[in-house]
Amino acid sequence: MSDRYALIGNPVAHSKSPAIHAEFARATGQDVEYGLIEARLDGFAEAVEQFRRSGGKGLNVTLPFKEEAFRVCLHLTERARAARAVNTLRFEDEFGDNTDGIGLIRDLQQHLGVALKGKALLVLGAGGAARGVVGALLEAGVARVSIANRTAARAEALAARFPAVRACAYEALHAEAFDIVVNATSAGLADEAPPLPAGLLERAALAYDMVYGRDTPFLRAARAAGVRASDGLGMLVEQAAESFFLWRGVRPATRPVLEKLRGA
Ligand code: ATR
Repeated sequence: MSDRYALIGNPVAHSKSPAIHAEFARATGQDVEYGLIEARLDGFAEAVEQFRRSGGKGLNVTLPFKEEAFRVCLHLTERARAARAVNTLRFEDEFGDNTDGIGLIRDLQQHLGVALKGKALLVLGAGGAARGVVGALLEAGVARVSIANRTAARAEALAARFPAVRACAYEALHAEAFDIVVNATSAGLADEAPPLPAGLLERAALAYDMVYGRDTPFLRAARAAGVRASDGLGMLVEQAAESFFLWRGVRPATRPVLEKLRGA
């Protein structure tokens, strides 16, 4: 019988993760099956237990359960601790990790060809998505990270946890310049954009939206400003590859999978 894994979240119906992991399994010859579990909002722990009891080997975790997954893990990696959120569970050793940050870094470096060392980064948003990537950006050697968020207190709380990271109000960004602007807000899902001052995107070399599968107002604004723009599909594929590696000990090639998804 195949080893079973799944993505647990709510909602999960439109996730591309099963297709990505099926490609990884095929390409690496691993006998795995990857499904979807839509848990009730108050039923995360129960759904995880049920999957584990039925023989499941591990899970990817998505909204809104990443913080809850963090709280139930016995063994956490440093990067999961920094994010206070877990997106990968491995049952055999009660292990939890967060592969979102490394997913973003690999997409930026390997697929988009961006050098991060010494760069000035602006992260928009201070929720779970932002928390998952700030530590990884610092580790990748960026010079500085600023965090802007609609609710200033959340940006300040996140910034306070890292040296060389500062919180900054959206209105205070008019005089600033950044090499890369990462949109880690969920604004795009509601077809909205974070309130960036005019001119900010023009001064950047890359605008990156962690949302995938839709053309967000943030990406449209970047293109209108003549700035290179990327959605988060590469990050999705890369975080999946890192999870696959944690489960199977084999690193799948990501470029063919990303190209296939982009072509579809
Ligand atoms: P996630 O785990 O996806 O980060 P979250 O924790 O609910 O989800 O955080 C959503 C983030 O998107 C927050 O930073 C939120 O700003 P607030 O903290 O002020 O709520 C941000 N966000 C959502 N919609 C937004 C919008 N229309 N404009 C700007 N920021 C928005």
